[in-house]
Amino acid sequence: MKKSVLVIACFVFAGVVSILSCRKSKTEKSAFDKVYERVNDPQNHYFWEQFHNGNIENVKTVISKLEQQYQEDSSNLVATAHLGFARFWLLSEGLRGGIAPEEIPGHVADARKYFAKAYQMNPNDKRLLGFWADAEMAQAGMTQSQELLQQGYARGLEAISAWPEFNKFTIGISFAGAPVQVPFFQQALEWQWTTLEDCYTASVDRSNPAIQEFISKDLSGHNLGRKRACYNSWIAPHNIEGYFLNMGDMIVRTGDAATAKKIYALAKASPNYDSWAFREVLEKRIRNAERNITVFLDNAQQGIDNVIIASSGYNCSSCHKMSTADQDRFKNYDWVGYFKTRDIYSVSGLKP
Ligand code: HEC
Repeated sequence: MKKSVLVIACFVFAGVVSILSCRKSKTEKSAFDKVYERVNDPQNHYFWEQFHNGNIENVKTVISKLEQQYQEDSSNLVATAHLGFARFWLLSEGLRGGIAPEEIPGHVADARKYFAKAYQMNPNDKRLLGFWADAEMAQAGMTQSQELLQQGYARGLEAISAWPEFNKFTIGISFAGAPVQVPFFQQALEWQWTTLEDCYTASVDRSNPAIQEFISKDLSGHNLGRKRACYNSWIAPHNIEGYFLNMGDMIVRTGDAATAKKIYALAKASPNYDSWAFREVLEKRIRNAERNITVFLDNAQQGIDNVIIASSGYNCSSCHKMSTADQDRFKNYDWVGYFKTRDIYSVSGLKP
């Protein structure tokens, strides 16, 4: 009985929603559809296929396909944004894919250019604002410009206040490898802690961060609004695991192996931990936490087990890579529909 009442309620609700949406102005509707039609383009399918597979050796093909789309239509938001994201992927993981160091400055400049354009096209998407800030700070680091660093940092703060659950991480990870005593690093680590409060529960005991029950909820079928940055999804199938891997690495660098081990261990509470491609890496981190206090501070080290994840060449992959088991899980998943129904680009504004 109860069930049928619910069904009727949903039906009536759906009717109300469709009446309301019919009343929406025509221009708003077409701007929305214009963005989401592009999600189904073959170039976008190619981007996600390569990115989810961690195929960094194909990043230049990804970029050239997107550039061609952009040349045909410079108002294509998806292509413009992904021209920024693909550059960041290249910059984070390209060294293991054979990218020559002398190419780096050009890609940083391009990342900055395309994130700025994409954000100006769609100022509702505060993820783009955060990545734009990161690009400015990266360029500031290369050109030794204090002024650009301040500008990028200020933009980062603006992005954080607009969407803290997403941008405290996005801005903070830029400083994951900074000297631990500088205020930028201290602030970045503080952001990793307060994200846990923004995301999961108001009171996190830093000596015993036992928040597993909040992390372990499988909310993949829900429309979470801004809180979607706190859970796993088709876009970032191991967001939770990658988050705690980076946070643990940052804490190890401060010398506090005991707390780092507790943070690493939170990754195991993710509902998708078993299919994560970096499980072994994390479990080694827990075993080697004391040893890594010195190893992570030594810039001559190489290899994923000896370098913080942010500089390892697998930074993006730690959250975005799909293992074979993940690919199986998402085999028939309507991800094009997911982008549209959740309004991933916040075209109609970011939902609370
Ligand atoms: C800690 C996990 C984590 C790491 C590391 C990470 N991301 Fe993400 N990424 C996310 C989350 C969460 C989202 C937001 C998903 C959403 O909007 O629902 C996201 C969104 C994205 C999107 C989606 C944009 C769109 O079209 O909607 C792209 C592309 C992306 N990230 C690229 C990258 C790149 C490139 C890197 C490496 C430089 C990276 N990410 C590192 C978690 C991560």
